[in-house]
Amino acid sequence: MRLIETCLIAAAATLAAPLASGQTTAKLKVGLMLPYTGTFTALGNAIENGFKLYVAEQGGKLAGREIDFIKIDDESDPAKATDNVNKLIKRDNVDLIVGTVHSGVAMAMAKVAKETGTLLIVPNAGAGAVTGPMCAPNIFRSSFTNWQPGYATGEAVAKRGHKRVVTITWKYAAGDEMVGGFKEAFEKAGGQVVKELNLPFPNVEFQALLTEIAAVKPDAVFSFFAGGGAVKFVKDYAAAGLKKNIPLYGTGFLTDGTLEAQGADAEGVLTSLHYADSLNTPRDNAFRLAYAKAYKQQPDVYAVQGYDAAQMLAVGLTAVKGDIGKRAELVAAIEKARIDSPRGAFTLSKSHNPVQDFYLRQVTGKENKVIGIASKSLADPGRGCRM
Ligand code: BEZ
Repeated sequence: MRLIETCLIAAAATLAAPLASGQTTAKLKVGLMLPYTGTFTALGNAIENGFKLYVAEQGGKLAGREIDFIKIDDESDPAKATDNVNKLIKRDNVDLIVGTVHSGVAMAMAKVAKETGTLLIVPNAGAGAVTGPMCAPNIFRSSFTNWQPGYATGEAVAKRGHKRVVTITWKYAAGDEMVGGFKEAFEKAGGQVVKELNLPFPNVEFQALLTEIAAVKPDAVFSFFAGGGAVKFVKDYAAAGLKKNIPLYGTGFLTDGTLEAQGADAEGVLTSLHYADSLNTPRDNAFRLAYAKAYKQQPDVYAVQGYDAAQMLAVGLTAVKGDIGKRAELVAAIEKARIDSPRGAFTLSKSHNPVQDFYLRQVTGKENKVIGIASKSLADPGRGCRM
């Protein structure tokens, strides 16, 4: 090793070392691995905005440490995920990773995080495996497991008296697991899923499947789509003339962050989710105002999940005075935390996943309005991953 390199490394070590007060002050490197292109682009941007809003509210620092963001566009492509996450860890030397939206990409990220011990906070992707079979003390989620909103919607659809339902979704972990959760609750309550329709992610050629729905004539349709795909599905469903005869339900991703583009075609659509536009709590009102001021647009569930990922990190870092190397104490602090989320306060399950309420929402104008509670304090069924 050349002398100059030795000096630089020594200087870097001094910068990162705790002060006599025990406070670490060097900049924290946060890897943001999110979709910045493709059907989930808006979701990735909202997560980043939410995360940065919380940091800005803390004066630009978490636990005394300024933050350097290193961004990677994961393109919602599982085939590129391992390379992308390795770039952040090995090339960019990030201290932790926040990501991502797509379940298939998140599973590859979780595998690497588990192998390397890198702290990973998942701000959306709901793949059950991430906080189930693949879980690890260093992996947390600020969002949901796919099963949760599926199950909550299944209960709500059964309560509204529907008996025969067709499901439609993209064929990948998120779609499969949301339909799985829906079916579990709906069939437990006496309903029947008469047909399960799928198309590959991120395909949006819905026409043939909509023709099948018209032929089956179910009481209702349950769907999972998100982002650009959700906009097109809701518009195509209405254009096919199905909306007036067969009520459309979905997990809330179907109408979150999409209403501007869906317009009147989304009016009346019923969904359930752990967030809504009309919670009207002091906490959510303050968040919505700050977000609208900072970004000149309304927040959605993805922005909330990004914001809460930052809150979770702040809790852990504060407990260790910024020293992210003190892993056991950092993890214990997040595990014990009650996160004061705009969605309503939540705690984490044994598997590091939010235990939270699911709202039944109906689209009214440009809002997902709360019309009831679909499921109270719903926890993922994972067996736990605590240290
Ligand atoms: C997922 O792939 O897990 C997912 C993507 C968008 C919205 C919700 C879930």
